[in-house]
Amino acid sequence: MCGIVACLLNDKAAPVLLECVRRLEYRGYDSVGIATLSGDIYVKKDEGKIDDVQKRLDLTNIPGNMGIAHVRWATHGLPTGNNAHPHTDCKKRIAVVHNGIIENYKELKDTLQDEGHIFTSDTDTEVIAHLIEKYMEMGNGLEAATRLATKDIKGSYAIAAISADEPNRIIGVRKESPLIVGVGENESFIASDVPAILKHTKKVIYLNDNEMVILNPTGVLIKDMDGNLLDKKVNIIEWTSDMAEKGGYKHFMLKEIHEQPEVIKNTLMEFSEIEKVVAKFLEFKRICFVACGTSYHASLVGKYLFETLLGIPTDVVLASEFKFSEGALDAETLVILISQSGETADTLKALKIANKKSETLVIVNVLGSTATREADHVIYTRAGPEIGVAATKTYISQLISIYMLAIAMNGDNKLLEMLQIVPSYVKDALGMEDEIIQIAKKYKDSSDFFFIGRGFSYPTALEGALKLKEITYIHGEGYAAGELKHGPLALIDDDIPVLAVVPPGDSHDKTLSNIEEVKARGARIIALGSSEDEALRSEANHIIGLKGEITEMLSPIPYVVPLQLLSYYISIERGIDPDKPKNLAKCVTVE
Ligand code: M6R
Repeated sequence: MCGIVACLLNDKAAPVLLECVRRLEYRGYDSVGIATLSGDIYVKKDEGKIDDVQKRLDLTNIPGNMGIAHVRWATHGLPTGNNAHPHTDCKKRIAVVHNGIIENYKELKDTLQDEGHIFTSDTDTEVIAHLIEKYMEMGNGLEAATRLATKDIKGSYAIAAISADEPNRIIGVRKESPLIVGVGENESFIASDVPAILKHTKKVIYLNDNEMVILNPTGVLIKDMDGNLLDKKVNIIEWTSDMAEKGGYKHFMLKEIHEQPEVIKNTLMEFSEIEKVVAKFLEFKRICFVACGTSYHASLVGKYLFETLLGIPTDVVLASEFKFSEGALDAETLVILISQSGETADTLKALKIANKKSETLVIVNVLGSTATREADHVIYTRAGPEIGVAATKTYISQLISIYMLAIAMNGDNKLLEMLQIVPSYVKDALGMEDEIIQIAKKYKDSSDFFFIGRGFSYPTALEGALKLKEITYIHGEGYAAGELKHGPLALIDDDIPVLAVVPPGDSHDKTLSNIEEVKARGARIIALGSSEDEALRSEANHIIGLKGEITEMLSPIPYVVPLQLLSYYISIERGIDPDKPKNLAKCVTVE
């Protein structure tokens, strides 16, 4: 995820671009850049947060009343000055900013290089600048050249482009990445999201996929990809800028929970990258997952998956405990470390230990983070920046990466097809908000909760309990359903709600028996299962019933969503800010 802005003004553009792009910093913050046009194209860009780069370079000190700007969340190429946007063509007459992923950029880059184009970055985006250059050299204007360039590109994009040969014109185009148009008084804007431009105009046009916008001094034109003019509705936005940054959601956590269907689709695009590296992993005799917190729960799903699908003995170790497992490391073990941030001190320490004797793979969300530099292999999740302290969309993207890895190793394409339809199950799960709010209201004053599940649902139970503790300050205990009778049953009474995770499948009936055990001790049951499961419904005080028959193996992906929502709404009921729970930090850099 990155943020893009473009504007055509009567006044100096660079200060406005900087102010607008600041409002998109939630979309990316590893580098920033601005390009303006005043006869020539002027570019200032570098790695780092906006404030730091501004102090070093004074991004506003470039001339011109029009330009483009970008905040980056690196996906292709490390967060460096060269890889920061805007990117230019060979003659520095064209500049582009881009949000999205160009899937076929390698082929396009090879062809363009064979044709003599010189590249200066490792990004997928730079091919766009060179494609536009190529088509403009053939006699096309910026608009037609951008249209032709997008015909060559596969993937997702929101692009803004300018050319020194066409002053007073900015082209924007969108496919599967957000792009809006701001219509001001004698000025116009393009942006990834509404908050960027709210200070300047409240009149917004939402672009659909395969639509193009042309900003010029007389206003804005919207066209389809055949060049036909479209008549689009101008919406009047009534948000405050704070509401807008969160996309209209009250908290980043809720926004991030709702982004999950899109995150799954983005993460799935990595499958071909994973396929390229798996052959080597099949040689290992043992897998050892290492992680902390939510990433540890994703690892537990990984253990069940690797043992079920691949039959490879798989251990899961907490990163802070990993040094006690050092003795079991050898060259036949692949150590897979999972970390959203790639900077968690416990995980980095474990990575150092693992590197001494074993090969290491990290599954990480932050490109260029320390873990990615120190491991032998890297898989990137594609969740975009996560601002809420509680991990939600990054957990889902970790799960998707683990499933893709196991599927690539196992070679079963049927499973891959099933994974592609998971976003629709997640969307259905997001549709259960009203029921979940009612449950949150009823149980907001409980002092303890149990979360139980078997097999693939056990990590889901642990993750549900962690979310509850973290953002509601209620004690939540995740337990393997079959283990309750070995001790914790003594704690159960009618004050304790037990949330049972019971998808259809092999573990279903046994978990129902465990529900009977706690019911007999007075517990109230909140059951999370299929909406068609009458046996479960008859056991439960409340049911969160998910539509569709997802397999038990894939159930950890949609089944965690209601648990995220339940914790979120209990936290709201208790007057807690879920984005900033007390005593916690997003990234834990101490051991
Ligand atoms: O960045 P990491 O994935 O390495 O972080 C690990 C944990 O600190 C993290 O998952 C933590 O448990 C979450 N805040 C839980 O929501």
